[in-house]
Amino acid sequence: MSTHPKRYTITAALPYTNGPIHIGHLAGVYVPADIYARYKRLTGNDVAFICGSDEHGVPITIKAKKEGVTPQDIVDKYHAIIKKSFIDFGITFDNYSRTSAKIHHDTAQEFFKTLNDKGEFIEEVTEQLYDEEANQFLADRFVTGTCPKCGNEEAYGDQCENCGSSLNATDLINPKSAITGNVPTLKETKHWFLPLDKHEVFLREWILKGHKKDWKPNVYGQVKSWLDDGLRPRAVTRDLDWGIPVPAPGGEGKVLYVWFDAPIGYISATKEWAAREGKDWEPYWKDEDTKLVHFIGKDNIVFHCIIFPSMLKAEGSYILPDNVPANEFLNLEGNKLSTSKNWAVWLPDYLEDFPNQQDVLRYALTANAPESKDNDFTWKDFQARNNNELVAIFGNFINRVVVLTNKYYEGVVPEASEFSEIDNETLAAIKAYPSVIESSIERYRFREASQELMNLARLGNKYLADEEPWKLIKTDEVRTKTIMFVALQIASALATLSEPFLPFTSEKLKGILCHSALDAESTWSDISTKDILLPSGHQIGKGELLFSKIEDKAMDEQLEKLAASKRANEAANKVIEPQKDIITFEDFTKLDLRVGTILEAEKMPKTKKLLILKVDTGIDTRTIVSGIAESFTPEEVVGKQVTVLVNLAPRALRGVESEGMILMIETPEGKLVFVNPDTAVKSGLQIS
Ligand code: MF3
Ligand code: ZN
Repeated sequence: MSTHPKRYTITAALPYTNGPIHIGHLAGVYVPADIYARYKRLTGNDVAFICGSDEHGVPITIKAKKEGVTPQDIVDKYHAIIKKSFIDFGITFDNYSRTSAKIHHDTAQEFFKTLNDKGEFIEEVTEQLYDEEANQFLADRFVTGTCPKCGNEEAYGDQCENCGSSLNATDLINPKSAITGNVPTLKETKHWFLPLDKHEVFLREWILKGHKKDWKPNVYGQVKSWLDDGLRPRAVTRDLDWGIPVPAPGGEGKVLYVWFDAPIGYISATKEWAAREGKDWEPYWKDEDTKLVHFIGKDNIVFHCIIFPSMLKAEGSYILPDNVPANEFLNLEGNKLSTSKNWAVWLPDYLEDFPNQQDVLRYALTANAPESKDNDFTWKDFQARNNNELVAIFGNFINRVVVLTNKYYEGVVPEASEFSEIDNETLAAIKAYPSVIESSIERYRFREASQELMNLARLGNKYLADEEPWKLIKTDEVRTKTIMFVALQIASALATLSEPFLPFTSEKLKGILCHSALDAESTWSDISTKDILLPSGHQIGKGELLFSKIEDKAMDEQLEKLAASKRANEAANKVIEPQKDIITFEDFTKLDLRVGTILEAEKMPKTKKLLILKVDTGIDTRTIVSGIAESFTPEEVVGKQVTVLVNLAPRALRGVESEGMILMIETPEGKLVFVNPDTAVKSGLQIS
């Protein structure tokens, strides 16, 4: 057990402020990072858990343009939403900052200046992609094209999301402006380049030799392939107006590349936190004894394993990351998560739909985390994790222990007498759990760790099922007391060990077991060293349900939300029907189209779609049966003016003779809309 205190700087990727947080972000980055940070604090370490909003970059300016607001409006809106949802979800950042903060602008500019003064950049005039119509240089997400590495036709100017390659905009084959769709021209402009090739030797030594064994294979593998491909200088400035101004002569009108400034955000956020807490920030970034750990998603690997370390190394006074436990991606119900397609479970929505059930999502995402390969989140699995594990195993065990202790002993932990072999084995097993869980966490295997925690609850359930105190109470009170004593020790260990994984539940459970009334509230490491966690005579409280069953109905509602997103997307992409065969004017004049006014309407009995209408056609008042009942109630249509094809041959529908047809438009969403004159006119006027 590594109980000697150590300093940890734990970072979680700064989310872009162009949308709320969804389950993909949580599973990939924030939940594992928070488990790790909580665990490190619990085991007595000095932790700075750092995050903040990434407020620069092209996607934010694109979104602002689309919505007709300023980029600052966008970042202010989402920074507030994201920050609040993290707090409500129980993510324990020591500081959640933002890259528009002054301290960040200062820190990033200072960092740039240091590198510039040290001659760590190449300043060069090169030809960059330019959109003549938009009057703008195209970099990063402002340009798409074919990836030269994998052929993906939708690669961006800085990265291909298909193969993960990091690109320069000029590498793209058939580039296209994302602003106007135009083919870009080339125009000369000066930029500052970080010569990554210069750092190749150091990166090889550091990662390929130094971290081959302890970095995750997916991370190590990606880094190795980049290094094997050879590194090239990379521009760290951009011709944009949203970002941090370049603090160097000739830098007017230019800003720092978002991926240059954002990781420095970890440093500025640490500074901001330290100032607030009256601490010195520097040891967290400059002391060789500090462990720096970056939690990120796999699309961020190159930035955290190659570019940022090269920047830190070039600066010279910083430590390098000890580990970068990047996760793979989480899918949702079989499809890639997508902000633009609204294919996601948004954190603010979850918090609203499942109040006080943060731990359920946290557990489902951890137990099914995309640690070594992409994984799929399904509501069915979410429900099963809750009902079959949290409710049936963890909750059930705690409930039985607490209820029986209250029933038999008025909530007082009973005296244990002689321990049986099973008792001794069980008590010994409890002691082993902290190091079992710890060894999984230390290897960043959070799903394994969460299952070990559940195994302790399983052990408790099995112990009670085998020993059957509810039967023994009738014949052997002494033995029953010992059994309940042992079961209470398991419950107490669960309260402490569950904290990183199920923080709200842990809080509740500690409350029920009255942990705070103990002489010394047991810590993580006490569980393996102390013989007794809850002493005889200790009073516990009344039971309270830790988890409750999630019914099919709630899951159906979530699935319906997704189905609605899918329909909306399909509607948005619906192809317009091609033109029909040419007809003559003669053909057209055969149609007698008139303005009609609906006078009466009633539902056709025993049908869903049909309304029986009485329509004033100007010629007469007639009956028309129309299939509009799913879009309109009879009351809404009375008085409406509509277009009627009056000379359609009459036909009987469900025994009612229909004399004509009302013209309708069907929207992609399947809603019907009337075709009517835009001012009221006399019924019977012809449409021609
Ligand atoms: N905003 C980036 C993303 O969501 C992550 C930035 S991480 C940092 O992919 F290191 F740059 F901060
Ligand atoms: Zn590619």
